[in-house]
Amino acid sequence: MSFLRQADELDAEARRVVARRLVRELPDQPTVLDVGCGAGGMSVALVEALSARGGGTVVLVDATPELLDAATTAARSAANYEADTTTATVRVRPVLADVATERPVEIVGAAQLVWASNVVHHLPDQRAAVVGLVEAVASGGWLALAEGGLSGKFLPFDLGIGEPGLQDRLAAARAQWFVRMRENTAGSVRLAGGWNLALSEAGLVDVTAFSYLVDHPAPPKQAVRDWAVNQLRWYEEVAGDLLHPADRRTVRRLLDPQDSSFLGLRDDVFLLTANTVYLGRKP
Ligand SMILES: C[S@@+](CC[C@H](N)C(=O)[O-])C[C@H]1O[C@@H](n2cnc3c(N)ncnc32)[C@H](O)[C@@H]1O
Repeated sequence: MSFLRQADELDAEARRVVARRLVRELPDQPTVLDVGCGAGGMSVALVEALSARGGGTVVLVDATPELLDAATTAARSAANYEADTTTATVRVRPVLADVATERPVEIVGAAQLVWASNVVHHLPDQRAAVVGLVEAVASGGWLALAEGGLSGKFLPFDLGIGEPGLQDRLAAARAQWFVRMRENTAGSVRLAGGWNLALSEAGLVDVTAFSYLVDHPAPPKQAVRDWAVNQLRWYEEVAGDLLHPADRRTVRRLLDPQDSSFLGLRDDVFLLTANTVYLGRKP
């Protein structure tokens, strides 16, 4: 939870731009679904974007009660944050649901925009999940699926300890972990081809994609250092066994608050990542 919150804070500015772009084409008083909303970073951005253009409803869906509660609190506070004459009412509706087993359209009805970020790759049958999301898009509405992009960079090439190029080896280990994670997901079905094809095959038209950058250059604010520590800890946890022992030693030093190389105090840490959003319209 705290890791998702940290990421939400660092992604906030970029997501605000994405949310404004996505709601621009919607009719008045639209309903927007945030499926797998996590701690609510994009939910807040969607509320703010709707608030600035006449209001609407944001429905939050997640299978983890604590995350759904956190997202609801954040989104509701954004809905009330500027109760002045220039902003309009946005209703926030939380729904606890497992979209691997329940069809979103049956739980929440149809929406003019369905946003699903980094959730579909957790589901056993990703193609079926896309079909389920498309069912929840109202005729003429949009599905915006955020998956993939460029994995985040946060380390300088030569850290001054260990072998240079650790970031790229971490990315390679993460890719192997991802394959393993998919294979170990119960009932996992392989998704052959790219997300744009999955959207077209599910019946969407005008399928396109764009990517947005999250860019916090060095020297970092403390929030970036803290995020980097947690990110590296996560890499160590899920993919540490895939690293060379020498790299594992470097990672341990970077994570040790007593070490002079500790990531949480370095001035050369940064965050640079690109997220891709696949967009399609329901005829
Ligand atoms: C990696 S997080 C992404 C959170 C957020 N959308 C973002 O992009 O920052 C994945 C989210 O999907 C939720 N999730 C995973 N499997 C789910 C399922 N079967 N049904 C509903 N939500 C699910 C998790 O609880 C978590 O909040």
